Amino acid sequence: MGLWGGRFQQGSSNMFRQVNDSLPFDKVLASQDIRGSIVWSRAIAKAGVMGANEQQLLEFALNELLEKAESGELDFDNSSEEDIHSFIEAALIDKLGDLGRKLHTGRSRNDQVATDFRLWCKEHLQSLKQDLLGVKKSLVQSADKHRQVILPGYTHLQRAQPVRYPHWCLAYVEMIKRDISRVDDLLVRMDQSPLGCGALAGTVYDIDRQKIADELGFASPCLNSLDAVSDRDYVLELLFCASTSMMHLSRMAEDLIFFNSGEAGFISLGDAVTSGSSLMPQKKNPDALELLRGKCGRIFGALQGLFVTMKGLPLAYNKDMQEDKEGAFDAVNQWHICLCIAAEVVDTIELDAQRCAQAAKQGYANATEMADYLVSKGIPFRTAHDISGQIVLCAIEQNKAIEELTLAELQTFSAKIDNDVYAVLELEYLVDKRSILGGTGAKPVFDALDAALKEI
Ligand code: ARG
Repeated sequence: MGLWGGRFQQGSSNMFRQVNDSLPFDKVLASQDIRGSIVWSRAIAKAGVMGANEQQLLEFALNELLEKAESGELDFDNSSEEDIHSFIEAALIDKLGDLGRKLHTGRSRNDQVATDFRLWCKEHLQSLKQDLLGVKKSLVQSADKHRQVILPGYTHLQRAQPVRYPHWCLAYVEMIKRDISRVDDLLVRMDQSPLGCGALAGTVYDIDRQKIADELGFASPCLNSLDAVSDRDYVLELLFCASTSMMHLSRMAEDLIFFNSGEAGFISLGDAVTSGSSLMPQKKNPDALELLRGKCGRIFGALQGLFVTMKGLPLAYNKDMQEDKEGAFDAVNQWHICLCIAAEVVDTIELDAQRCAQAAKQGYANATEMADYLVSKGIPFRTAHDISGQIVLCAIEQNKAIEELTLAELQTFSAKIDNDVYAVLELEYLVDKRSILGGTGAKPVFDALDAALKEI
């Protein structure tokens, strides 16, 4: 008889089944589906659809299925059922006969799938939060391990001003904190139960929807049945959270790939997270980092894909919406893997402090300091900027650093320059002068690091 065979005279074609069946991928919702059914059986029993004994039998059988689902014993591969909802219902009918046929009273797969997927997203977002905290912890620990390292800071990938390594780490920590707060916001917004909304119009049975919400761990019921069965905003938002977090990981990966390059040579990465070349024996490639960049494609793609799927769908449920799952399942899985490997890579970072300092000194990263020095001698900044630029040009022509020019040479650009200029041009001095809140000086950086260490 199947799920909806009554008004049909012919079975589905094989090709139709290929496009229509979702069991091969929505089987991962088994546990959520069964838990939803347990709560639903209680609700309809209370509404008088079945006796308390019958409900107990149903709940017992559903719990058995739940155990099997959680231990991976359900045989999805040899099933001819269309989706996880019909699979579980069929398994129940198989066990309990006519009693199993009572479970779907007043319910639709439309409110069922909306409930299952919300539960699945909620549960995964909770564990992804832990993954995000893991990357944060690794970054904070790496910052602590290499407290004293100073490396060049870049704009336009040109050496700009030196920064402390912990400052670089804590920049990504700020991004991760925003990623976590985005997940927290979403968890609040999506915390509503669609169960009881039926196919689209609600249900005729006297169901306590708040009780259902409570039992499933939702804060409250969705308030409009049409919206409840057709809303996939929470999936889009989850994919946006994933995409933004991946964008951050990708930028971090890009920085580290560059730091790890032969040209920069600031860091080295562990053997466990790098790979060799089949041809060139000397190679040690940052593949894990490249994949953090590369995996963005499919995750951003899942977000775009679902937007396009949802756009223009009339209320309420349409089968197009079955396309919400594969992209999201894949994105969540990949996001999880990427967060874990990102933490692992960061744990292996070793820094070449000397090479970092050397590079930080080169590239005229102290030219701004030269200008600020002139400002301190009473020269307006715009003029000071111009003088400092001329000094840089002169130094470039002689293939020297600014501080390698003699005082007499420097004084040809401004008589205000004195012997005290050399101290100002020193790396540590110019870094630590940026002692403003949020700056790269020792005080704000170590204060921020100490605060972060308390949080992890
Ligand atoms: N497999 C469907 C999905 O994932 C479940 C809902 C089907 N509802 C329906 N009326 N065809 O969206």
